[in-house]
Amino acid sequence: VASSVLELGGNKIAKDDVVRDDPTNNVPDTIFSKLGMQLHRRNNHPLGILKNGIYEYFDTNYPNMFDKFDDLCPIVSVKQNFDDVLVPADHVSRSYNDTYYVDSQTVLRCHTSAHQAELLRRGHTHFLVTGDVYRRDSIDSTHYPVFHQMEGVRVFTPDNWEASGLDPTSYAAEDLKKSLEGLARHLFGAVEMRWIDAYFPFTNPSYELEIYFKEKWMEVLGCGVMEQEILKSNGRLNSVAWAFGLGLERLAMVLFDIPDIRLFWSTDERFTSQFSQGQMGVKFKPFSKYPPCYKDISFWINESFTENNLCEVIRGIAGDLVEEVSLIDNFPNKKGMTSHCYRITYRSMERSLTDEEINDLQWNVREQVQSKLNVVLR
Ligand code: PHE
Repeated sequence: VASSVLELGGNKIAKDDVVRDDPTNNVPDTIFSKLGMQLHRRNNHPLGILKNGIYEYFDTNYPNMFDKFDDLCPIVSVKQNFDDVLVPADHVSRSYNDTYYVDSQTVLRCHTSAHQAELLRRGHTHFLVTGDVYRRDSIDSTHYPVFHQMEGVRVFTPDNWEASGLDPTSYAAEDLKKSLEGLARHLFGAVEMRWIDAYFPFTNPSYELEIYFKEKWMEVLGCGVMEQEILKSNGRLNSVAWAFGLGLERLAMVLFDIPDIRLFWSTDERFTSQFSQGQMGVKFKPFSKYPPCYKDISFWINESFTENNLCEVIRGIAGDLVEEVSLIDNFPNKKGMTSHCYRITYRSMERSLTDEEINDLQWNVREQVQSKLNVVLR
């Protein structure tokens, strides 16, 4: 149970500051309870071990160069999270369906890029920012509404690129690719890699790095050459910079063989005892897989229905006992109404669930889906 006053990056935050019953706020209790957990700062947790492993790469290859931040407050302004990194006014990520809003001008950061501008303004030119980030999303074994990212930024000045014979953007792009290929080798060993062209509002050109791992191509991170406008607005004229952002869970799941993203939040000793400081990539031994239980729910949707809202209701009732929610049937009737059927997979990672317990959960889900989402159950 979370206490009702938290200390976040030096700020005292009361629960009523973050969770309020008003239409500009969409932060549920389940999300409030995750604020301040800072899994990435635990040296015996896979996310902390991975963070330290990445630090080690930068410290070895660029001694004393990168400033590190892992305790910046996750409650940021809309300006920091979106405007400062040039996210267009109509971008979907700004919607209440995708982002947790504390009020109309304040959000739970949805990426660590929210700190790029302020750190540049404070004079930092080489930095790594690690933190918890928040996104409304659907439910499956690789998605959780709170996860962790690391951002990296490096700024160059003319003396860096002038000797190279390259234009500044190409110089930064080449350096970026070399640095991140080195990071991928540090983490994964001698793997095959490829660069994919991508789009982010804050970088141009933009890329994704993929590695060939366990017989498939896997995205490792997003990156690119920082938009000039961000540098100029934040006191860096006549500079170029690269930036990258990577999801720690995605990498930790493959490095440590962790099969379900909910495990990162487990306090079960059979999970926590398997990881210790500096032990990068120790393979997790699943302690057991308890049986899943499937329950279907069908209803006629309305115009405002979204899968993210459905998942939030289910998560609010079943918490980490829900493993997956998937749409298994979708059809219109003659009157123009649309029916959805979702299959909910209930499964604990720590014990067997009883029929009674699951029936209770499902009964509550049916009731709240009807009352909170205004849909008509079938
Ligand atoms: N912020 C991006 C994301 O969350 C990642 C990114 C960071 C991409 C920095 C480019 C540069 O997906």
